[in-house]
Amino acid sequence: MKKKVLVTGATGFTGGYLAEELVKKGYHVKALSLPNQDKSRLEKLGVEVIIGDLTKKDTLSAAVEQVDTVYHIAAIFREQDVPHQLFFDVNVGGTKNLLEASVDAKVRRFVHCSTVGVQGEIKNPPADEAAPYNPGDYYQQSKVEGEQLALKFFKENEIEGVVFRPVGIYGPGDTRFLKIFKFVHSGKFRMIGNGNVLYHLTFVKDLVEGIILCGEKPEAVGEVFTLGGNEYVTLTEFIKLLAEAMNVPVPKKHVPLWPVWVAAVICEYACYPFRIKPPLYRRRLEFFTNDRAFDISKAKRILGYNPKVPLKEGLKITADWYREQGML
Ligand SMILES: NC(=O)c1ccc[n+]([C@@H]2O[C@H](COP(=O)([O-])OP(=O)(O)OC[C@H]3O[C@@H](n4cnc5c(N)ncnc54)[C@H](OP(=O)(O)O)[C@@H]3O)[C@@H](O)[C@H]2O)c1
Repeated sequence: MKKKVLVTGATGFTGGYLAEELVKKGYHVKALSLPNQDKSRLEKLGVEVIIGDLTKKDTLSAAVEQVDTVYHIAAIFREQDVPHQLFFDVNVGGTKNLLEASVDAKVRRFVHCSTVGVQGEIKNPPADEAAPYNPGDYYQQSKVEGEQLALKFFKENEIEGVVFRPVGIYGPGDTRFLKIFKFVHSGKFRMIGNGNVLYHLTFVKDLVEGIILCGEKPEAVGEVFTLGGNEYVTLTEFIKLLAEAMNVPVPKKHVPLWPVWVAAVICEYACYPFRIKPPLYRRRLEFFTNDRAFDISKAKRILGYNPKVPLKEGLKITADWYREQGML
């Protein structure tokens, strides 16, 4: 009999890759899916799709029934123009519902997907798992609360628990990073500031291997792991690699940070009375000002995590996919 596992978020980017890899590894994969989603891709893979909604606890018992390991990947993350409360309803309330349903169904292990965003702006890069929580927005705050809830729940209940925090996930299928690819591809990219901040990503297929190690390794229980790529680079180097991956000229133009920052402040104050979203705001500049570099040595040491795809190669694979899809 194949071991049953549940993947939440399997209709999304990371969860889709994870479900596919688990099928390849011989698991019976169940996927929780909201109603009215296209499940044909999952069904073709042989995934058993269970309709449910994390915010409705009574819809979750069929999903966790006879399941050995739950991989909880689903979250509200990319959604724009939805009430902030939805982030907390799904990322905190939904996690609680799934944890409770899992304990009731005697699930053995629960692997919870958090994010390095719970550590927000990094003071001394690279940050390891012990760096303090420092969420910078409501999404990150909801992920802090979801992670803390899961860690507390693991201590107080009969279930093996593991938390992993991915570093920015990219690869074919993702559209979040498309914007930066497009800017560089079109020649419109301008570096704001000196470009010396650090930038770190995770290729989705490497990440999925790490997630499965969190589900399989006995040593993982009770731990929190940062899962990222092998390399982090300066933003200047990153933009150069991106241009090379798309075979376009490397952008050379710089804009000083402070005038853009002042313009952002003015935009924020001008738009506030009219309750409209400013076209430029300070948080938007964080791409150019905040270090994102993380230490993945704990996952390497304890899990045997071994990301294989170099950044240069991953960017090329992703750029080629965007081209094939007509997105670039
Ligand atoms: N992408 C990144 O760079 C990044 C970085 C760090 C951490 N993470 C974390 O990694 C995880 C996956 O990210 P992703 O980029 O793959 O996300 P994604 O593509 O947006 O997928 C999110 C999934 O969650 C599902 N979902 C949302 N609300 C739900 C609900 N109420 N009930 C059941 N399912 C629900 C979505 O279902 P529908 O398809 O039906 O909408 C979708 O399948 C998330 O936990 C995210 O916080 C992502």
